Amino acid sequence: MRAVVCEAYGPIADLKVEDLPDPSPGPGEILIAPEAIGVNYPDGLLVQGLYQARPALPFVPGMEAAGRVLEVGPGVTHFGPGDRVAVLLDTGAYATRVLAPETSAFALPDGIEAGVACALLCGYGTAHHALKQRAALRPGETLLVLGASGLTGLGAIEIGRAMGARVIAVASTKDKRRVALEAGAHEAIGYQDLRADLKRLTEGRGVDVAFDPVGGEAFDTLARSMAWNGRLLVVGFASGTIPSLPVNLALVKGFSVVGVFWGAFTRKQPAAFAANVETLFAWVAEGRIRPLVSERLPLARAADALARIHARGTVGKLVLVP
Ligand SMILES: NC(=O)c1ccc[n+]([C@@H]2O[C@H](COP(=O)([O-])OP(=O)(O)OC[C@H]3O[C@@H](n4cnc5c(N)ncnc54)[C@H](OP(=O)(O)O)[C@@H]3O)[C@@H](O)[C@H]2O)c1
Repeated sequence: MRAVVCEAYGPIADLKVEDLPDPSPGPGEILIAPEAIGVNYPDGLLVQGLYQARPALPFVPGMEAAGRVLEVGPGVTHFGPGDRVAVLLDTGAYATRVLAPETSAFALPDGIEAGVACALLCGYGTAHHALKQRAALRPGETLLVLGASGLTGLGAIEIGRAMGARVIAVASTKDKRRVALEAGAHEAIGYQDLRADLKRLTEGRGVDVAFDPVGGEAFDTLARSMAWNGRLLVVGFASGTIPSLPVNLALVKGFSVVGVFWGAFTRKQPAAFAANVETLFAWVAEGRIRPLVSERLPLARAADALARIHARGTVGKLVLVP
């Protein structure tokens, strides 16, 4: 098989495409031929050694793939050759053959395209978990989304709308704001006058739920723009800066700061995670959400795709098509 390999923690550009022996499934494992492989911001952190986890070297990055089962190992009961599945892994997806424990696979309905299935795992999965389990977003509430044209941001816009919220999107350029509006945001603004814009758009009340995958300076503005009983969701730090919070703001304004760690959620609450995936598959089938797969690239372009995601140069979901 062909695979993208990380031989040492370091720059994304050091990733290599190599020929490796074809794997065969062990007990409880399935082997799939991916039709699409998801590229995610955290994959780029992982190969640089900047993520919470540090896999043993060398390793094949990639946490999502969707395609058909080729072979199953002993003891596999839920899937057989020819079945369509989407799989979630720690690593190993950037390859023309992907091994996964059967317990990490979801049956993929025929109507859901493989690239869209990848968007629904880490990206939309994080946004859904954040808004459902962590913020308990209610219909009629105001939801603010930073990094709104990125993958988790677009997920938060679409899912927030599906849950009945009024969505205000924040993105850095006019083109990115257009993408956010097309995904269903009610308003789209830039970062320049964030505090004044939020005051104006909420008539001084503040936002009920803020979804922040960016961090940095904007977080400080959010902490000063929350409504009473608001929930400020800490999702990520795409700006490269982990912000600090003067906790008196949480006291005075009566809001909560809520951490979101989707990967840990999938491991600690597998039944809730499986129910979330089922909901997202159903919402796609019903046309309630339409994840944007903006680029489909060959496997050999993995490093380029990751570098552009980290340089703020993409919108929506990028997938590799082997
Ligand atoms: N907590 C969790 O469980 C979880 C799960 C998945 C991802 N994450 C994290 O969430 C963050 C976003 O992930 P994503 O998939 O939405 O990524 P993405 O598709 O690349 O979107 C990130 C957005 O952040 C904004 N941004 C601002 N400053 C940036 C900078 N210096 N470099 C890159 N982007 C910048 C960009 O929009 P503008 O140009 O409009 O500002 C960009 O669209 C990452 O830090 C990721 O690790 C966390």
